[in-house]
Amino acid sequence: MRSESEQKSGMSRRSFLGLAWGVSLVALVGQAGVAFLQFFQPRLKTGGFGSKIIAGTPKEFKPGTVNLVQEGHFYISTLEDGGYLALWQRCTHLGCTVPWRADEKQFHCPCHSSLFNPKGEVIGGPAPRPLDIFPIEVVDGNLVVDTGNPIAREKFDPSQVFHA
Ligand code: FES
Repeated sequence: MRSESEQKSGMSRRSFLGLAWGVSLVALVGQAGVAFLQFFQPRLKTGGFGSKIIAGTPKEFKPGTVNLVQEGHFYISTLEDGGYLALWQRCTHLGCTVPWRADEKQFHCPCHSSLFNPKGEVIGGPAPRPLDIFPIEVVDGNLVVDTGNPIAREKFDPSQVFHA
């Protein structure tokens, strides 16, 4: 038998509890759904060398410049046509770290004097092949470099250049 107040409000205690449980269940399922989607959404890992590294926005790299991205051990070499190469700092001779010499406009390995141009091509010394490159993509407006997948090259080819 319904009380007088229940008759006035039109809702029994049992109906109210049922509704509360229903709302709680919907909220719980909704939260679980959001957590599920977040878990499986592809994420950009930025765990340092060996992962995908955000280099910066394309506008940060002016044509004809070479910029070191220390975290990823690579250079973004922006060619005159605005294309990008992500060049690994590692010399293809015996693996020394190769600095960019802005005054010489070339990479100059300090170990045995291999020289590389801004495309990473060998222009002198004992290095047997161009500097390795990493794949580049654009994610959320940034150049992102996959340092987990170096690409060894026998020679430079225009298809290696990334255009944003
Ligand atoms: S390691 Fe670079 S020239 Fe030998």
